[in-house]
Amino acid sequence: MSEDIYDPVFVKGVFDRCSDQYVTFSWICSFGFTERWRRQCVELMPEPPASEPKGYDLMAGTGEVWPHLLKRFPGIGSITAVDISSGMHQRAMERLHAHRAHKIAFIEDDVLASDLPKESADFIISTFGLKTFNGAQHAKLAKVVAHCLKPGGVFCMIEASDPKGWWLRPLYLFHLKVMLPLIERTLLRGAQDFAKIGTYSTNFGDASAFAEMLRAEGLHVEFKRFFFGCSTAVAGSKPAAFARS
Ligand SMILES: C[S@@+](CC[C@H](N)C(=O)[O-])C[C@H]1O[C@@H](n2cnc3c(N)ncnc32)[C@H](O)[C@@H]1O
Repeated sequence: MSEDIYDPVFVKGVFDRCSDQYVTFSWICSFGFTERWRRQCVELMPEPPASEPKGYDLMAGTGEVWPHLLKRFPGIGSITAVDISSGMHQRAMERLHAHRAHKIAFIEDDVLASDLPKESADFIISTFGLKTFNGAQHAKLAKVVAHCLKPGGVFCMIEASDPKGWWLRPLYLFHLKVMLPLIERTLLRGAQDFAKIGTYSTNFGDASAFAEMLRAEGLHVEFKRFFFGCSTAVAGSKPAAFARS
């Protein structure tokens, strides 16, 4: 029987096994672009309405976006990291973010099955957490975002994407499909797991369909491409007078 790569249990296993090497992997494989895109994601997010905003980092992983978030918004009251992989979060807290632990809470859960409270967030951010969902799961995620944001609350989510139409796309796909598996096999442990991350990325396409799903939930949404579409983002807000139940 073929594996369902979008089954949350399967995804959790992939990231639990990769957590040790994830930071190195994502840096090497993107030539440092992931770091730049995390910063650009934070820059694109509209200003949260509260003076000490509280919010979620969905699919937070090792918390790589927190330094950018706290630099732009030093008044942030708290960030609640939501991630299905405890391995990724442990990694975050032990090695990278022990000094900001007072601002960070953690929920270990499948975000789509979680019970995050209604209108509990001034902001929602997510970096590179969209690709491990299929279309139906994206539609659910759009509902979660609309449900959790306070009226006036803001969001930004970014994901590595397929730069369709870019003349260097064949080179990019060669990098993703040939070079990355080679780097994984020669330099990194857990080769099959990292190779799956490449598969998720090519399956994802870009964030334009997700933008439409967020609009269908009544949110204001801007769709933006970075670096010829190698990464795409959705950013916006929940209208201050939000009418849905
Ligand atoms: C590619 S990593 C991104 C991590 C981090 N945000 C970053 O910028 O590097 C994707 C993360 O999404 C998490 N994840 C995948 N599916 C999830 C789900 N259904 N619920 C919560 N987290 C999930 C994984 O455990 C993993 O840590």
